Amino acid sequence: MSRTLSPELRRALGERIRYYRELGIHDFYRREPIPGAQAEPAPVAFIQPEQREEMSPRKAAVAVPVVSEESIFEVIASKPEYGVADPVKALKMIREDLGDCTRCRLHKQGRKQIVFGVGNPKTELMFIGEAPGADEDQQGEPFVGRAGQLLNNMIKAMGLEREQVYIANIIKCRPPNNRTPERDECETCSPFLMRQIAVIRPKVIVALGAVAAKSLLAINDSMANLRGRWYDFRPAGARSSDPNWTSAKLAVTYHPAFLLRDPRQKKEAWKDLQRVMKELGLKPPAKAAE
Ligand code: URA
Repeated sequence: MSRTLSPELRRALGERIRYYRELGIHDFYRREPIPGAQAEPAPVAFIQPEQREEMSPRKAAVAVPVVSEESIFEVIASKPEYGVADPVKALKMIREDLGDCTRCRLHKQGRKQIVFGVGNPKTELMFIGEAPGADEDQQGEPFVGRAGQLLNNMIKAMGLEREQVYIANIIKCRPPNNRTPERDECETCSPFLMRQIAVIRPKVIVALGAVAAKSLLAINDSMANLRGRWYDFRPAGARSSDPNWTSAKLAVTYHPAFLLRDPRQKKEAWKDLQRVMKELGLKPPAKAAE
């Protein structure tokens, strides 16, 4: 049975599977239904938004719902890129699997093309934004408009070039009038992003803005609370070809489009990026360090 899982559930299932692996359990099987028995819905211990606010982000990100064996079976279903060690090849396979995607409504709401992601597939640093805008939709590349120019400057200030990092978005198609992506659009699209992350295996992911942060972490909190700390991020439902890579460190900063509207916050964003640089052992170029 094919079912769309929420990001929370995917994340939680990923955690549960890792837990089983640590116990030495690697194989799962589908339990046959008992003839005549009523199918029961999976009992999911959903965390209410108000409870989430009380929890530490680390815990909220890995909260484990009660799951059925069937869901576990679905989550570990094989993907074409599994076992492919070369990230360039593996990313191509994910792109092919995505195809001319019609999985959500955005394909018929004026998108020109899918914006898959761009950059170095072997990078230690990934930036994840919200959704393509008009320029990105036109050019097929994330962050190529005004916000992209600012992101390029932020990357340069860190002593890197755009080509050295990998840039993607939570969703790969432009929403009409640049509206905020809908929850179901994120849920439909994010498995592909999770697979990209598992292939790239970055040390650090920077979530750009509240939409990216909340979608990746499944936490509903203010930017003030989300920024300034590290999260252990595991791409739920996706398997890396490197058994030694299990998670990336994730930091949250302001979206470049927000910084264009409120440049006073650039100082704060720079603090976030400096923490990332420290983590990666990066030194700013002489000019930015002044
Ligand atoms: N804003 C985003 O979040 N992503 C882009 O690719 C461009 C603008």
